[in-house]
Amino acid sequence: MRRKKLLAGNWKMFKTVGDALALVRKLKISVGQVRDREVAVCPPFTSLKSVSEILSDTQIRLGAQNMHYEKEGAFTGEISPDMLADLGVVYVILGHSERRHVFGEPDDLIAKKVQSAFPRDLKPILCVGETLDQRQADQTRSVVLGQMEAGVRLLSADQAKFLTVAYEPVWAIGTGHTATPRQAQEVHEVIRGFLQKRFGPVSEEIRILYGGSVKPENIDELMAERDIDGALVGGASLTAESFSRIVRHNGGGA
Ligand code: 13P
Repeated sequence: MRRKKLLAGNWKMFKTVGDALALVRKLKISVGQVRDREVAVCPPFTSLKSVSEILSDTQIRLGAQNMHYEKEGAFTGEISPDMLADLGVVYVILGHSERRHVFGEPDDLIAKKVQSAFPRDLKPILCVGETLDQRQADQTRSVVLGQMEAGVRLLSADQAKFLTVAYEPVWAIGTGHTATPRQAQEVHEVIRGFLQKRFGPVSEEIRILYGGSVKPENIDELMAERDIDGALVGGASLTAESFSRIVRHNGGGA
């Protein structure tokens, strides 16, 4: 089965509302009507509403970078799935390595967040990936499989259809050290095998993105791999010029 590629920009904690609008206005012109691949931007919470309005007549989807799993409640500083859905958010990044390692989010919390996306028709992008120490200790496979197993623990096959996975080796994030296409493909294949076992034929519909120092210069070779179905882009998604080049890799794009 041919999976439609997804190129998603994770803006992390960058851009005021004004900066976000300036970027998204440019993206609207350069990639706003691309249809042969899916494009998404994930601004900080503070810009979601304004960006959502600008994107409403484009093909670009809106994503968020995190959320709480409860619908509402006394959770100071948190944002719920209902609040995101209300703004037109489609994707939500969950279990990003910065959430895991900087903010100490454990696997069971991430599993609850993943599960809570479905009642509001949000599509989770579940991030997994090993640290440099874990790779050097030959633990990549077991770490990634452990995070996968835990992250989808509560999901049915019907829900899994709407899941996206992002393999982001922690040592490649923001470092300029991209995984080689072969290193990435090896892990994507492990994840694909896991999904097949866990969810059966539906797994063929689940996209597995690569993330970690993706740039216009390396996108083509990464996307040529069989099990790499798109990219989750950090730094290079912060300018319209580089993100548009990534979206239009291989000269594609309508
Ligand atoms: P960089 O592209 O800046 O390495 O970040 C990757 C990432 O964490 C995307 O979620």
